[in-house]
Amino acid sequence: MRIDVLTLFPGMFSGPLDHSILLKAREAGLLTVAAHDLREYAEGRHRVTDEPPFGGGGGMVMKPEPIFAGVEALREKFGQGKAVLLSPQGEMLDSVLARRLSAEEHLILICGRYEGVDQRVADHLADLEVSIGDYVLSGGELPALVLIDAVARFLPGVLGDPLASSRDSFEEGLLEGPQYTRPRSFRGHTVPEVLLSGDHAAVEKWRREEALRRTRERRPDLVRKALTPGKGVE
Ligand SMILES: C[S@@+](CC[C@H](N)C(=O)[O-])C[C@H]1O[C@@H](n2cnc3c(N)ncnc32)[C@H](O)[C@@H]1O
Repeated sequence: MRIDVLTLFPGMFSGPLDHSILLKAREAGLLTVAAHDLREYAEGRHRVTDEPPFGGGGGMVMKPEPIFAGVEALREKFGQGKAVLLSPQGEMLDSVLARRLSAEEHLILICGRYEGVDQRVADHLADLEVSIGDYVLSGGELPALVLIDAVARFLPGVLGDPLASSRDSFEEGLLEGPQYTRPRSFRGHTVPEVLLSGDHAAVEKWRREEALRRTRERRPDLVRKALTPGKGVE
């Protein structure tokens, strides 16, 4: 999968992309990510990318021209990628949306800044708007990184153990249950016996029950959704 990012701060991407799973995915050729400076697509000597809002109100709004030019240049070079505008007003990112986006060959992520982005980008350029939560961040760069990480986990081969991800929270509409590792006893707190039993069926049953119990306690909304006909949690 290829992901191009249009941003005023391409430097924000190097750290997170250069570690752990995202680095391995890139090294293995499963994921290519390129961050592009929006100023490169801005015209004039000063390469202006933002202007005060029409109608007043303070702050600055990102201009449409560099964003349109950036997306069009990337599509020309790499094919008709799906353009995603990061926005607190967008569709909420969840595992279903992340999985859906992981099926795309090419994503172009547009990061806003300041007071936001000229509405014509959402209306006439972006294929969808995505939010990472009901709070306002200073820019779309962190949301873009969150989206890249969530999407990359669904790309075949990116996670070493595909079984581990199938138990991840939200995969079956539930939270994952508790996990333990060595030592068996830590400061008097012991690991549940069943995990040491070697009985795989009993371990699976326990994990299932713990996942349900935890989800009921912490996210009753997820249980209700999972029990809706057609969603399938027995
Ligand atoms: C300060 S925000 C602008 C918020 C805008 N004035 C509003 O109230 O909707 C600047 C940029 O950060 C990004 N952003 C902020 N919060 C976000 C969120 N929760 N999800 C996705 N993007 C977000 C968007 O790209 C946005 O254009």
